[in-house]
Amino acid sequence: MSNHHWRTWVLIIFVIFAAIFNLSQSDPDSHHFRKKILMKEKVRRMFYHAYDNYMKYAFPHDELKPLTKTFTDSLSELGNLRLEHLPQNYNGSALTLIESLSSLLILGNNTEFERGVSWLSENLSFDVDARVNLFECNIRVLGGLVSAHMLAIDSRNRFSQGTYKNELLILAEDLGRRLLPAFGTPTGLPYAWINLKYGVMANETTETSTSCSGSLILEMGALSRLTGDPQFEDAALRALRKLWSLRSSMNLLGTTVDVVSGKWIEYSSGIGAGVDSFYEYLVKAYILFGKEEYWRMFQSAYVAVQKYFRHGPWYHEADMRTGHATYWQLTSLQAFWPGLQVLVGDIAAANSSHREFVKVWERFGVLPERYLLDHQMLHPTEKYYPLRPELAESTFYLYQATKDPWYLEVGESITDSLNLYTKVDGGFASVRDVSTMVLEDHQHSFFLSETCKYLYLLYDDSFLVDQNYVFTTEGHPLPVLSAWQDRLPEVYTSANYTFIQRRASAMSLQICPAMTSSTSREVDEKHESACHICDTRRDHRCLTDEDCGVDATTCRRRSCSIAGFCGLWLYL
Ligand SMILES: *[C@@H]1O[C@H](CO)[C@@H](O)[C@H](O)[C@H]1NC(C)=O
Ligand SMILES: *[C@@H]1O[C@H](CO)[C@@H](O)[C@H](O)[C@H]1NC(C)=O
Ligand SMILES: *[C@@H]1O[C@H](CO)[C@@H](O)[C@H](O)[C@H]1NC(C)=O
Ligand SMILES: *[C@@H]1O[C@H](CO)[C@@H](O)[C@H](O)[C@H]1NC(C)=O
Ligand SMILES: *[C@@H]1O[C@H](CO)[C@@H](O)[C@H](O)[C@H]1NC(C)=O
Ligand SMILES: *[C@@H]1O[C@H](CO)[C@@H](O)[C@H](O)[C@H]1NC(C)=O
Repeated sequence: MSNHHWRTWVLIIFVIFAAIFNLSQSDPDSHHFRKKILMKEKVRRMFYHAYDNYMKYAFPHDELKPLTKTFTDSLSELGNLRLEHLPQNYNGSALTLIESLSSLLILGNNTEFERGVSWLSENLSFDVDARVNLFECNIRVLGGLVSAHMLAIDSRNRFSQGTYKNELLILAEDLGRRLLPAFGTPTGLPYAWINLKYGVMANETTETSTSCSGSLILEMGALSRLTGDPQFEDAALRALRKLWSLRSSMNLLGTTVDVVSGKWIEYSSGIGAGVDSFYEYLVKAYILFGKEEYWRMFQSAYVAVQKYFRHGPWYHEADMRTGHATYWQLTSLQAFWPGLQVLVGDIAAANSSHREFVKVWERFGVLPERYLLDHQMLHPTEKYYPLRPELAESTFYLYQATKDPWYLEVGESITDSLNLYTKVDGGFASVRDVSTMVLEDHQHSFFLSETCKYLYLLYDDSFLVDQNYVFTTEGHPLPVLSAWQDRLPEVYTSANYTFIQRRASAMSLQICPAMTSSTSREVDEKHESACHICDTRRDHRCLTDEDCGVDATTCRRRSCSIAGFCGLWLYL
């Protein structure tokens, strides 16, 4: 090739690159589109690195130890801080496989899903002498099975025709029956621990937490609807109603309670550990089952949280009897709260809290388990980061609601930190101390069921098209079926609104779509609705109707009551 030709080619290539570069600069949509494809691929590789290593070194045991490339049969250790009553003869329940099933489908891997289902059908048994935590077993194992069952039978026929014979549901029902004896208490509040083979042990502790007794309704309710046996939903609902009846006059609950006497043990509570999913399940149960009762409980509970726990973008703990602040601590689990606020349409509050969590993530590289807000320092002992999903989860919800590309960058920074600090040859390892990034030999199953799933959905939400889901607190999707609804939210039945077409998403039931009212010319451009509790006054009360925004379920304007509360109802 002559020198001249060579130069021409360089010039042509340069022009092509310049054109591509220019396009990408001038077209932000195509820039985000490419970013999403790149990031989706990165997250997919993360998931498979975790999954393949689990299958290679740990399956059918419960979880992977990624540093030593071995396993741990951890189902009976979950929530068991002092590691009491560990089983002698228990070889695991393939926990991480169960937790991975719905993620495999979201990533489009139907063959691996089917392989997992047939292994479980043939080999999984719950007739094991293992004492497990009711809450953990419910959200991880029962939730994983029920969700995978619903996905296996859904109308899109993901499963090869005729090969699925409800095996997962049969397993779930067997497990559900083994959990029922826990509810046999004078109060109906369940024991926190149960032996899968022998039931509640003699001298079992009677202390349980608010989340343990108050967030069983999604899985148990779905199990009842699927099997036709009302016992599961009845037991979970009885426990939930009992717990709610124990609230204080300020609508606050404590963190732990005695299941025999029904007396509170720990009066201080917040929105983090021991309580978090209680709030989450009230609103998600309302979405899944359409029962007004759940929504009423949720609204009162939510107003109380915003009033007594919130301080600007932060949430502290308070004593349920007095409403006075107790602990000024940020916990990593609280990062789920902005995601929940998106579901009820309180986007502004969600956005401001989420930003603070992102700042803490950026400061440490990951989120420390506990951070002392009053001293602006790490908690002396809880410096770990066990690959928790909550920040990724909230980021996903906020992106769904706003489509603000900033959230894609947050997801990228989370993904990059996980790869930088926690990826090892044998999987992903928890961080023992965020100040040194020393690792711990444990890959929690929720890394596959939640962390990877929410990051993936941030960049590819095609799974959510044409179907509404609620995600359980363990990230397992349950389709929202009209047959399960007591009553469809008015927004879907009212003929007065014409909806500007928006894609169906996990959130479309709860975020008021952008809409025009055909009876007036008023156009509500925002797809934000509000359970918004204004923060302009210290007591978070409203002054005028303008402070109150739009109700998240009916999309009607809310009004400010004489006592200063927003609502569709009237407070005295
Ligand atoms: C667990 O594995 C050990 C060693 O393979 C075996 O002896 C034992 O019977 C197994 N236990 C159960 C409950 O299957
Ligand atoms: C599904 O997962 C298996 C196991 O990781 C892998 O070998 C296979 O390539 C995956 N298939 C697709 C379509 O991603
Ligand atoms: C059940 O487990 C056995 C022993 O590990 C294995 O050989 C068999 O293939 C498993 N069944 C299925 C359907 O995978
Ligand atoms: C239960 O606790 C009591 C008192 O601590 C003890 O005497 C009894 O042996 C325990 N029973 C069992 C079955 O562990
Ligand atoms: C979130 O907060 C940032 C910073 O205050 C602001 O720029 C952005 O518009 C907010 N987004 C939403 C959806 O409220
Ligand atoms: C819809 O219109 C009817 C009749 O015009 C009216 O009675 C009803 O209250 C309206 N519903 C809503 C949600 O505005």
